Amino acid sequence: MPGAELIPRRPWRGRRVLLGVTGSIAAYKSVQLARDLTRLGAQVDVVLTDAAQQFVAPLLFEGVTGRKALTGLFTVEGAALHVRLGQEVDVVCVAPATADFLARAAQGRADDLLCTTLLATRAPVIVCPAMNDRMFAHPQVQENLTHLRERLGYRIAGPAAGALAAGEGEGPGRMLEPTEIEEHIGHALGAEPAFAGRSVLVTAGPTREALDPVRYLGNRSSGRMGYALAQAAWRRGADVTLVSGPSALEAPVGVDLVRVETADEMHAVVAERIGRADVTVFAAAVADYRPAESRSEKVKREAEGPEISVALAANPDIARATAGARRPGSVVVGFALETSDLLANAARKLESKGFDLVVANDATEEGAGFEVTTNRVTILSREGKPEALPLLSKDEVAEEILDRVGRLLGSRG
Ligand code: C5P
Repeated sequence: MPGAELIPRRPWRGRRVLLGVTGSIAAYKSVQLARDLTRLGAQVDVVLTDAAQQFVAPLLFEGVTGRKALTGLFTVEGAALHVRLGQEVDVVCVAPATADFLARAAQGRADDLLCTTLLATRAPVIVCPAMNDRMFAHPQVQENLTHLRERLGYRIAGPAAGALAAGEGEGPGRMLEPTEIEEHIGHALGAEPAFAGRSVLVTAGPTREALDPVRYLGNRSSGRMGYALAQAAWRRGADVTLVSGPSALEAPVGVDLVRVETADEMHAVVAERIGRADVTVFAAAVADYRPAESRSEKVKREAEGPEISVALAANPDIARATAGARRPGSVVVGFALETSDLLANAARKLESKGFDLVVANDATEEGAGFEVTTNRVTILSREGKPEALPLLSKDEVAEEILDRVGRLLGSRG
């Protein structure tokens, strides 16, 4: 999920990233990208073209990565720097990628360190174009991109539409934001066979149940746990659908986000999709009740007097109501947020809702539950003892859950 916590974590931790920077105004964003990747635990080697150095100084990158920024093909570090780099890195990301770079890469030129290293590597290559929208739409640029994608297997990330450099228009041409590029790099680094081509369905966030046109019943769920799961499943290579109640979080990268408001709406989307899911994770904090009737006019104090009562009607239990439609052999994960008898209540949910795993946490514990970025969970499964995990970021909890889902997927073939 873009903007999630910048602590060393999978899949960036301990991995080597070659960040190519070419001559575009968007190069100022690459400094942030290099810094974020370093904070995520990656070892980042930055290679700047001559044109890039018209915009940003190598020293700036050295400051944020703690490593020498590389500029020349023929350096004292040896003429074979490109060969060594090409072999050692786990992923190459060129951001920003100018029209000139795309042309040179498509031709297989070897006239600078960046292009030469591209020829010498077999690591995945991600290219993040950045240029004026008319240039991007030019047939030659498009042809170069097609060649890079189809012939060389490069991944093209972006560009986005939106304001370009001063006075340059609004069409597609803008480089993706660093947080999005970090996820594309994570996707290249995180691929896992158990998840390749698998379909993952995640529910997240609260639901809102209308009392009248302006008020609703809701809860304090931020959606963070479900969003982290969806993003992490995409990084592992799954096709992910995230069905989310109202949340302030940014849409995860690469994920099909379906926004809903009420439990009924969430139920309808899950019912429609669960039959195709290899994995379903029920991370939403669904309101158990909704106002029995939603008033069509705003409730007024003067009309109601000092007391008001609202009749509530039960919402569908989405996990239970859609159990019959699950794909045979699929893995289903539920959550249990409890305030007492954590393990007993969670174990009951494992049975009664037909979950393969239940992620249990205690709402009263500090650093766990709603509105925080950390969680302390115990994972219950059908086999084996409950596993109590330490206090972790929700991103790390997501990885722990998916490790177990991956093992179940593997064992079910
Ligand atoms: O019974 P409880 O609400 O504690 O169960 C929690 C689990 O059931 C979670 O995985 C939650 O997403 C799911 N759930 C659901 N529909 C509801 C209530 C809970 O899918 N109406």
